[in-house]
Amino acid sequence: MSIRTGRHFLQIPGPTNVPDRVLRAMDYPTIDHRGPEFSKLGSEVLEALRPAFQTRGPVIVYPSSGTGACEAAMVNTLSPGDRVLIMETGWFSHVAWRHQAEKLGLQVEYAPGTWRRGVVPEEVEARLSADADHSIKAVIAVHNETSTGVTSRIADVRRAMNAARHPALLIVDTISSLGSIDFRHDEWEVDVTVAGSQKGLMLPPGLGFNAISEKALAASRKARLPKSYWEWEGILKPNANGFFPYTPATNLLYGLREALRMLNEEGWANVFRRHQRYAEATRAAVQAWGLEIVCEDPREYSSSLTAIYVPEGHDADRLRSTILENFDMSLGAGLGKLASKVFRIGHLGSFNDLMLVGTLGGVEMGLRLANVPHKDGGVMAALESLTVADRKPEAVLS
Ligand SMILES: Cc1ncc(COP(=O)(O)O)c(C=O)c1O
Repeated sequence: MSIRTGRHFLQIPGPTNVPDRVLRAMDYPTIDHRGPEFSKLGSEVLEALRPAFQTRGPVIVYPSSGTGACEAAMVNTLSPGDRVLIMETGWFSHVAWRHQAEKLGLQVEYAPGTWRRGVVPEEVEARLSADADHSIKAVIAVHNETSTGVTSRIADVRRAMNAARHPALLIVDTISSLGSIDFRHDEWEVDVTVAGSQKGLMLPPGLGFNAISEKALAASRKARLPKSYWEWEGILKPNANGFFPYTPATNLLYGLREALRMLNEEGWANVFRRHQRYAEATRAAVQAWGLEIVCEDPREYSSSLTAIYVPEGHDADRLRSTILENFDMSLGAGLGKLASKVFRIGHLGSFNDLMLVGTLGGVEMGLRLANVPHKDGGVMAALESLTVADRKPEAVLS
């Protein structure tokens, strides 16, 4: 039996570390979800969520995982047999979107991708321009592909859709970017933004979100895919008074209220900058180790996680288990075709400089113990990156 001391390092790209302040905020008696106290809680949380999505419109909160919120986005806006254009970015464009869409009876046009790049805006424009009779009803993109650490340029995707003068809805999965990477629902004219509680929002798993545009709301009035639990309309009505049509996840909402307060106190620009600093420092470490990052295009580097190849002939899962056994740290596994080839470092959510240094220290020691060929100096490179004058935390917070 191994004895564990100190805290476990949960450095998978979600669920992330839940701050003590959020844990304490949930440690209260569950209240009557039809009573006046709940109405205040519900109204406050629904209002406070808007800045997180950079929207003035409504945000639906489901007691669900992110996958549920993906299904909700589709069943509320689409009808049986509708064509949807899904851009292949990795495991999540595949399982969360393509598979679900097919099971729901949608016709999926799955635009192939290499898993090393994000959505190619020019390709979206070309495919939409070729769809002269506008049979494509929605374009679906994963903002931050959690399996690869590649962040798609959604503003450019929107520009491409407008350039093609195509009326398709834009549905975007921000499950591993919301609260970590700048995302603008209104400015980028996103119709449904899908998110979850367990990553940038620093909560335990259990809440799914749909931020919805006027256009999405109008589409939902005509959409014919079967739905009941997920139906927006039946939720929006009681939401106007802070209530839900079913028993909500009351204690998670206490936590969400606290997490949003924390993010507001830090300031959203600082939150995004903090995540960028950790991603830059992580890449500096990877480069010094002489290892390869999955993301090929520097414009698409993810701020919330970094996916790293182990050299040919080595097993990333063996490296991860060595690190777990020796240092009590969990890292993300390679998913789908990247299984055992890649490990992923999550650097999102409630996370600070010393946690990053500890994380990278654990990886560097693991590389040695597992005999994975690498060069020394990754942690030192990260320290350099973190202490460059204009990137010190003081500068971030000022
Ligand atoms: C980008 C993305 N989409 C969808 C999902 C599925 O979310 P969940 O596991 O909460 O159902 C995840 C989960 O990690 C994800 O990262």
